[in-house]
Amino acid sequence: MWYLYTRPLLITVQLLTVYSLPSGAFTWATLPPGLGEVLIHTHTHTHTHTHTHIYIYIYIYIYIYIYIYMHNINRIIYTIMLRLLYKQPSVLNGRKDVITVTPWLAPVVWEETFDTTLIDAIYKTQNITVATTVFAPGKYVWFLKDFLESAERHYMQGYHVHYYIFTDQPEAVPMVTLGANRSLTTLKIPSSNHWQEITLHRMEKLQKLIKTQLTNEVDYMFSLNVDTKFSGHWGAETLGDIVAVIHPGYYSRPYNEFPYERRPESQAYIPQGMGDYYYGGAVFGGRVEEVHRLVKTCLMQLELDKANSIEAAWHEESHLNKYFLYNKPTKILSPEYQWQELKFKINDIKIIRVSQVTPNLTEMNPDFLSDSM
Ligand SMILES: *[C@@H]1O[C@H](CO)[C@@H](O)[C@H](O)[C@H]1NC(C)=O
Ligand SMILES: *[C@@H]1O[C@H](CO)[C@@H](O)[C@H](O)[C@H]1NC(C)=O
Ligand SMILES: *[C@@H]1O[C@H](CO)[C@@H](O)[C@H](O)[C@H]1NC(C)=O
Repeated sequence: MWYLYTRPLLITVQLLTVYSLPSGAFTWATLPPGLGEVLIHTHTHTHTHTHTHIYIYIYIYIYIYIYIYMHNINRIIYTIMLRLLYKQPSVLNGRKDVITVTPWLAPVVWEETFDTTLIDAIYKTQNITVATTVFAPGKYVWFLKDFLESAERHYMQGYHVHYYIFTDQPEAVPMVTLGANRSLTTLKIPSSNHWQEITLHRMEKLQKLIKTQLTNEVDYMFSLNVDTKFSGHWGAETLGDIVAVIHPGYYSRPYNEFPYERRPESQAYIPQGMGDYYYGGAVFGGRVEEVHRLVKTCLMQLELDKANSIEAAWHEESHLNKYFLYNKPTKILSPEYQWQELKFKINDIKIIRVSQVTPNLTEMNPDFLSDSM
């Protein structure tokens, strides 16, 4: 075949280009044809006419060379692109300073345990929507501005997000510009000054919202505390069937020091010598039907406690801990996802993704804490 002759010819061409053209020109064979043409043109003008023929041949041979090796070039480009996409996952190397999987084999999400590119490649094709519910009763609306603005910078970027804000003061919800594919709905709740009432309302409203709307509309949901401020990436690595967060205050403590509800009269009762981790009440989430099960159970137990005139030590956080003891979370977020501003950074924590905001009592109202809001 005619192109079998192009090999020896090509060597000649390459030798010629190396000797007769500016340094670096011998790499032309790997340049796109159009660029080679431009370079040749530029060059012919600086030489006598006798050389022009040679350059035309050079151009033709380079073109043929590229044509024949196009197949290989495609393969090379493909391999490079795959490498850029994500690093090879390792079976042997990973973080050794913290646990990354629970004894019941649920992953614990820490920085350096996941590859964002790889995770996004999985979830972005699914066109998922993450409902995000926030309770802002009374003066808690003060936190909404920071919450929403920081969430728009860090939370579930590139995914559909629907915020549901529960408040007794819808008019006080700040106007925050939302990105593409992100929306916000404000839902009114009755005013109350008592924590048990507020917690009950929260669970009631959540249960109703999930049942009437979320089950048909969204895939995943998170219930987040309004006094959280995002300061780092919070993405699809947090998605799972039923997700809890490890409380930053107790993650290195033995479980007999956990502030579980210890009175057997409460539905949130956990006896000494039992427990897994101490989970924070600021974050829970997962697939909508799983969160629905959690919310229904907690609501029932909160109502029973109310009927028995007992209030769990840490309100719904106590009930969540009870629930997660018997219904193990399928994914656990490390304290990176619920840090507290006052705590100093320690070695295990490589990034603070979320921290609790200290309220500015001057801006808010002096009696902010006195009425247990
Ligand atoms: C993705 O989901 C959103 C919200 O649920 C919907 O409006 C949109 O049509 C969906 N897009 C595709 C391509 O399925
Ligand atoms: C919004 O969602 C659509 C799919 O429904 C997607 O094609 C588009 O890229 C998204 N936009 C942004 C800014 O994420
Ligand atoms: C609280 O808000 C007031 C009024 O906006 C401001 O002057 C003050 O510096 C703030 N305090 C803190 C600790 O941020």
